[in-house]
Amino acid sequence: MALTFVGVILGIFALAKSEFSLAGKSVYFLVVDRFARSGTQALNTTYCDLAADWINNTGGGYCGGTLNGIIDRLDYIEGMGFDCIWITPVVDSNGFMGYDAVNIFEIEPHFGSKEDLKRLSQKLHERSMCLILDIVLNHVRPLVVNGEVNLSTIVPFNHESHYNQRNRSNNQSFEEYLISWPPPPFNPSEDNQRLQTLKMTGELDCGHHVADHTECACFPGNIGFSCPSLIAEDFTTGYLGVLGDLNHSNPFVRRTLLTWVREMVQNYRGLDALRLDTAIYLDRDFLPEVQEVAGVQVLGEATVNNLTFQASLMHGEAQSGLLGLLNFPPFYQLPRAFCGYRMGGDFGDYSLQGTWYEEADMEGLGSVLSLQLSSSMHLGNSNLDMMGNFADNHDEFSRLTYYCRYDSLRIRQALVWVFLSRGIPILYYGTEQGLDGHQGPENSKGQDNLRESMWHTGYRTDTWQYRFIQRLNKLRKDFGVGVGDAKIRQTSKTTLVFSRETTKAGTIWVFLNNAKNATEKEGQVYCPGPGSGRLRGRWFDALSGKPMNRYFKAGCFQAPDRNPKVLFRGRHVP
Ligand SMILES: *[C@@H]1O[C@H](CO)[C@@H](O)[C@H](O)[C@H]1NC(C)=O
Ligand SMILES: *[C@@H]1O[C@H](CO)[C@@H](O)[C@H](O)[C@H]1NC(C)=O
Ligand SMILES: *[C@@H]1O[C@H](CO)[C@@H](O)[C@H](O)[C@H]1NC(C)=O
Ligand SMILES: *[C@@H]1O[C@H](CO)[C@@H](O)[C@H](O)[C@H]1NC(C)=O
Ligand SMILES: *[C@@H]1O[C@H](CO)[C@@H](O)[C@H](O)[C@H]1NC(C)=O
Ligand SMILES: *[C@@H]1O[C@H](CO)[C@@H](O)[C@H](O)[C@H]1NC(C)=O
Ligand SMILES: *[C@@H]1O[C@H](CO)[C@@H](O)[C@H](O)[C@H]1NC(C)=O
Ligand SMILES: *[C@@H]1O[C@H](CO)[C@@H](O)[C@H](O)[C@H]1NC(C)=O
Repeated sequence: MALTFVGVILGIFALAKSEFSLAGKSVYFLVVDRFARSGTQALNTTYCDLAADWINNTGGGYCGGTLNGIIDRLDYIEGMGFDCIWITPVVDSNGFMGYDAVNIFEIEPHFGSKEDLKRLSQKLHERSMCLILDIVLNHVRPLVVNGEVNLSTIVPFNHESHYNQRNRSNNQSFEEYLISWPPPPFNPSEDNQRLQTLKMTGELDCGHHVADHTECACFPGNIGFSCPSLIAEDFTTGYLGVLGDLNHSNPFVRRTLLTWVREMVQNYRGLDALRLDTAIYLDRDFLPEVQEVAGVQVLGEATVNNLTFQASLMHGEAQSGLLGLLNFPPFYQLPRAFCGYRMGGDFGDYSLQGTWYEEADMEGLGSVLSLQLSSSMHLGNSNLDMMGNFADNHDEFSRLTYYCRYDSLRIRQALVWVFLSRGIPILYYGTEQGLDGHQGPENSKGQDNLRESMWHTGYRTDTWQYRFIQRLNKLRKDFGVGVGDAKIRQTSKTTLVFSRETTKAGTIWVFLNNAKNATEKEGQVYCPGPGSGRLRGRWFDALSGKPMNRYFKAGCFQAPDRNPKVLFRGRHVP
C-alpha cells in the first residue's frame, strides 16, 4: 500500500515535470562570459571583446561575465517579457565560449560555482521563468596545445581510445596523427565547384523553390545530389579543427556522456531544457538516447538547409530523434529576405563576413516557410512548435543590426518575424541595445566579433529595441500566441504575409516588407488582405493600435505606411 502511494506520488511528480514544454515560450540567449559581471567587477563597465586563442589553442579570452552577474540582471531580461534564458556551456573549459570542455564534471571557475548554477536555476523558477543549458557531446577541448598533445588534462576523456581515429595510419602515433590535422567531417570544395559548373550550364536549378538545396551549396545534409563526395559516416568521425572528437562507439565515452546528461538535469533540478551543440555531427542512434536520458526537451543545433534532412532529426511517429531543433533553414534566408545581406558563403566559410546584394528578397524565406509548414516535409504538426527561430547568433555572421545596416524599419520587420512565426522565438543578447558586433573590414576578430560585452551599454531599458521586443512579448501573451498553426498567405520579393492561430485573439494576420526606412511613410499594398468575405469585422493593428478596416480594398490590404502590421479582429487593443 505504502509502496503504491509512493508510486503515485512519483508518478505525479514525473507527470508535472514532463508537462513543461518550450513550445510557446520565448527565449533570451546569452553568452555567459559576456553578459554581466559581478562582485568586484560589477561596476566595471569597460568594453571587452577579447578573442580566444584559436591558433595555439591555449583558449582564454575571458572578459569576466558570471552566473551571479546573470542573476543580478534577471529583472532586465524579465522586463522584456522573456519566459526563458538559454546560457552558453558552463562546464570547466579551455576558452570563454565554453564549447571546449576540459573537465565536464566541474563548473568553469571564471563563471562561478555549482551553487551559483543552482541558484540561477532557483531564481528563475521563483519568477516562473525557465533555464535552458547548452551542452556539448560531440567534442572536448583542442587536443593540440602549443604544438603538443597532453590528454591527461582532459577529464574524463584522457585516453586516445576515447577519440575518433579515422585515417590514422598504422605507423603513426596518436600525437602525430593529431598534429598532421585529422580529417574534417567533410570537404565541400570539390562539390561546390561541381555545383557551380552545373549551375552555369543550367543543369542545376538553384531556385528558391527547390527545398533541398535552396542555397545551392554543399551543406551538411545535402548528401547525395548536391554533395556526392560527402560520406555520411565521415560526418560523425571528422574533426572540427583539432577539437577532440569523441568516439561515441567507445563504450566508456557513450556511457559516461549519457550518465553525465542525466546527472546534469538531476543535479541542477530545474534545468528545464537542454540545447545540444553540433547535433548533426553526433551518431544518429546516439541522439534518441540523449533525448531519452535527458528527460527534458533537447533543442539540437543542426546547421542544415535540407528540410528533409532536418525533419529526419526530429522525434516523430515513425522515428526517434530530438524533440526540438534550432530552425536553421529559414535563418539562412533571413538576412537576405529583410536586409539584402548575403551570408559568408558555403558552410565551411560561415565565420566570414558576408556582403550585400543589390536588393533584399523575401522569396527564399517565403518558400522555405511554406514548405516547412506544409506536412509534406514529414515534420509532425507538433514538431513545428519546437523549432527555435532566430535572426542571429554567436556563430553565424552577422548580427541583425549590422546586416540590416542599422535600418530600424528593417530590424523591426525581422523581429516581428522572429516573435510571431510558428516556433520558439530566440533573441540573441544585445540586440535590444543595438549591438552590432563592431564588424566590418577594419575589425576582423572573426566570430569573436559577435560576442562582445554587454556591460558598457548600461543595460538601458529605454532603447527603442528594448521597448519593441517588450511589446512583441506582451503581444504574444495578450493574444495567446503560442503553439497555434501558421499559414503563409502571400510572398513576393518585397512582402511576406502570414497568419497565426492564437488562443485569445483568433486568427491574426502579420504583414511584413523589406522596404528601407526612407520610405517608411509610403503606403504598401498586400494582397490578399484579411477582412474580406467571412472575415468581416472590426480589425485593428496591434502595433499602432489603430483601426484598419478603411484600408481593406478589393480583397487587398492597402496599408497606410510600411511599418510591420499585426492585424486582429476585436473591439479594442488589449
Ligand atoms: C575592467 O575591465 C577591463 C576589461 O573589460 C579590464 O581590462 C580592466 O582591468 C578592468 N578594470 C579593473 C579596475 O579591474
Ligand atoms: C603561438 O605560438 C607561437 C610559437 O610558440 C608564438 O610565436 C605565437 O605568438 C603564438 N600565438 C598565439 C596567438 O599565442
Ligand atoms: C600533462 O599535463 C599534466 C597536468 O597539467 C602534467 O602533470 C603532465 O606533466 C603533462 N605531461 C606532459 C607529458 O607534458
Ligand atoms: C571508435 O571506437 C570503436 C570501438 O571502440 C572502434 O571500433 C572504431 O574504429 C572507432 N572509430 C574511429 C573512427 O576511430
Ligand atoms: C579515410 O577513411 C575513409 C573511411 O572512413 C576512407 O574511405 C578514405 O579512403 C580514407 N582516406 C585516406 C586518405 O586514407
Ligand atoms: C607511414 O606509412 C605511410 C604509408 O602508409 C608512408 O607514406 C609514410 O612515409 C610512413 N611514415 C613513416 C614515418 O614511416
Ligand atoms: C536531403 O536530405 C535527404 C534525407 O537525408 C536526402 O535523401 C536528400 O538526398 C538530401 N537532398 C540533397 C539535395 O542532398
Ligand atoms: C535608416 O537606414 C540607414 C541605412 O540605410 C541608417 O543609416 C539610418 O540610421 C536608419 N535610420 C533609422 C531611423 O532607422
